[in-house]
Formats: sequence, structure tokens, C-alpha cells
Amino acid sequence: AIPMITIDGPTASGKGTIAHRVAQALGWSVLDSGALYRLAALAVLDGGIDPGDEAAVARAAQDLDVRFDAGCIWMGGVDVAARIREEQVGNLASKIAAYAPLRQALLDRQRAFRRAPGLVADGRDMGTVVFPDAPLKIFLVADVQARAQRRCKQLKEKGFSANLADLLQDMRERDARDRNRANAPLAAAPDARTIDSSNLSVDATVKQVLDLWSS
Ligand code: CDP
Repeated sequence: AIPMITIDGPTASGKGTIAHRVAQALGWSVLDSGALYRLAALAVLDGGIDPGDEAAVARAAQDLDVRFDAGCIWMGGVDVAARIREEQVGNLASKIAAYAPLRQALLDRQRAFRRAPGLVADGRDMGTVVFPDAPLKIFLVADVQARAQRRCKQLKEKGFSANLADLLQDMRERDARDRNRANAPLAAAPDARTIDSSNLSVDATVKQVLDLWSS
């Protein structure tokens, strides 16, 4: 089987950064599965699709014409990498991620990312549903305060205004939605290794993952 590492965890646990750094170190590719949910949300918004219509949302995801290329995300000829990070898109992504038909529609697309020499897959259900045979599964957690502070810093660095109390509230709501949904709820796979990054630097976290891979 093609080597791979899954990294699952709650919002703003640093999965994206860690996944990219680990992939870079190993010379592997990355699947940012959250981007697919965000792309589906964007397609719903732009296509005037009823976000409550589960079948229509799943069809929009099935029909996504998307290409990932060195930091750019091309959808229908336009780079939407920045747009899918917008708050409105993230909120809708979080809501439609509860739909079973949508999750089903994205399965094959996610699995197609697994190619030689290896893949690091980041999301909520990479180790539990999408790649249950992955040889190394990481469950990356951090306490909600640490996550809210990181997101706050990130937003301010990008020139956005950010309020810690609002972010905390939003993060708790997202956590609850991720953990309590019926379909593929956020949970560690039974064979996952948990890493708590609340008090770990990015470098230290990457090292822990690489050490687990080589051990
Ligand atoms: O900003 P955040 O870390 O919450 O988002 P993300 O990782 O970009 O994912 C966007 C949304 O898709 C989240 O609300 C997740 O609940 C959902 N998602 C999912 O359900 N399953 C995945 N494998 C990845 C993301």
C-alpha cells in the first residue's frame, strides 16, 4: 500500500500547518479535506443552491471542477484559495459537513489523493472513515483557549479584526457540531496516537509525528 499519515482533530488544532510540514519533510503530497467541504460550500453559495437540500448539495460536490496546484485552488478557471477561507464559507461548510450524501460524494475524490510516494491527509475523519487502513493515524488536539488564541493571532497577522471571546464561542460551537453529528463525528480512531499541542511549538509537533512515523 502507498504510505500515508492521517491527521485528524478539532478546528484550529494546527492540523493544516503540521500536515504541510510533515509532507514537506517526507516529500509527500497533502490532502486538505476541509478545503473540499469549503469548496462544496462555495459552490452552493455561488450556484444559488438551497443549502438545506441535501441531495442538491451532494450533487454540487460531485460536479466540482477543481484542481489543486501549488497553493492555488482552481475552480472553473478561477483561483478560489482565498475565498474558501472566508468566514461565511467556513460556517456553511461546517453545517453541510453533517450531510451523509455530501460526505459520500466526496469519498472517492479524497481517496484519489493517495499516490506515491506518500500522502498526509488532514481532516476530521481521515483515520476513521476515509483511510481506515492508514499505517499511522494522529489525533491532534489542543485546548480550546490555545486554539482560539492561535486563530486570533493568525487573523490579526492577515490584517483582519479578531475578538478572542467571539472566537472562543465560535470554536465551541464548531467543536460541538463536529463531535455531535451523526455522520462521521470527530473522534480519534481506536488505533490513533493522540498529540496534545497546547504547549508544543510547530517544530516540536512535526518532530513528534516524524518520530512516530520512523519508529
Ligand atoms: O476552519 P476549520 O478548521 O474548522 O475548517 P476546515 O478544516 O477547513 O474544515 C471545514 C469544515 O469541514 C469543518 O467545519 C469540518 O467540520 C468539515 N470537515 C469535515 O466534516 N470532515 C473533514 N474530513 C474535513 C472537514
